[in-house]
Amino acid sequence: MISFPVTCLALVSLVSSLELPKLSERATGCGKTPSFTPGDFKNFTTSDGREYRAWLPASYDSNKATPLILSYHGANRDISRQVALDKLTHPRFNKDHIVVYLQGLAADGSTRTKWEGAPDCSSNDIKFTGEVLDAMTESLCVDEKRIYATGKSQGGGFVGRLACDSGLSSRIAAFAPVSGAYYIKEINKKSDCHPETVKVPCSPSRTNIPILAFHGGADRTIEYHGDFRSNACLPDVSSWARQWAQRDGLSGTPVNSTVADSENGVNMSYGKNGLVTLVYDGDNIGHDWPSKTRNADNSGVRLAAFDASARIMDFFRDHKLP
Ligand SMILES: *[C@@H]1O[C@H](CO)[C@@H](O)[C@H](O)[C@H]1NC(C)=O
Ligand SMILES: *[C@@H]1O[C@H](CO)[C@@H](O)[C@H](O)[C@H]1NC(C)=O
Ligand SMILES: *[C@@H]1O[C@H](CO)[C@@H](O)[C@H](O)[C@H]1NC(C)=O
Repeated sequence: MISFPVTCLALVSLVSSLELPKLSERATGCGKTPSFTPGDFKNFTTSDGREYRAWLPASYDSNKATPLILSYHGANRDISRQVALDKLTHPRFNKDHIVVYLQGLAADGSTRTKWEGAPDCSSNDIKFTGEVLDAMTESLCVDEKRIYATGKSQGGGFVGRLACDSGLSSRIAAFAPVSGAYYIKEINKKSDCHPETVKVPCSPSRTNIPILAFHGGADRTIEYHGDFRSNACLPDVSSWARQWAQRDGLSGTPVNSTVADSENGVNMSYGKNGLVTLVYDGDNIGHDWPSKTRNADNSGVRLAAFDASARIMDFFRDHKLP
């Protein structure tokens, strides 16, 4: 009698293996039991001592290729702050993507954490990110066509660098910086910094890179119209987005639509389904992660007309690597 159920099981596993995504989309971690429980976080350290924290959705199945989001905190911040800010481990926004929070280094032993690309930062966060992705794909069933990156402020600026990196631009499917600090530290004289025309150094290894950026009109930390700050040049954010559209081969003028219920919010989108989209959050939104409810950035007083996290999840769901 035992042979019948066994045959049945074999058949079931054959059928389900036929339905699985192409092998190339499945990480080597598929089929392995994770070292932590779905629904929980776990802290990890790389061999170089770099810290990161991963979260598994409650529905995680080690036989199902699962998308993964990398999230980068702002300067002087840490992982816990970013977990609370992006709420991407909250069921309201995400029930089916793994989320991995990376910790930036404070070179001087202080709490002033920074990311590669920022002034006075010498960490190699491109290498760190690659190592995190290697470790995660070796131990978890990651959908390698659906790896995404988001981050706040300097973390958003670093997301911009990931999109410009020849290696990781082909490993990460879509990028969503929030209030990004897109420092160009090669330009270190105020007289050489022209935010509206400055060319952003960028060498991605593919085209059609999906970009969704957010910026507030009342951002006095990283100005929407650019700035010379910390001895580096910050581009005008709409020019930064236009340069992405150009790299992706899209025409020079965005399609503008208003952001409902916001104070002059504009959705500027380039290309089919807004492949490159810049959301001007509104005149009243500061250096914030836009949220309809209170968060650590808006202190409950600068509520946005929309949740950036909801838009980011929709955008990620719409894009995968070719
Ligand atoms: C991860 O580390 C943080 C900070 O050190 C700590 O507060 C948290 O409890 C740790 N989380 C887990 C799941 O161990
Ligand atoms: C879109 O909105 C931006 C920001 O308000 C503006 O600079 C630009 O001229 C608008 N473009 C069009 C085509 O209306
Ligand atoms: C911006 O436009 C996209 C379509 O390109 C739309 O899906 C989205 O809801 C708009 N966002 C806001 C905040 O209005």
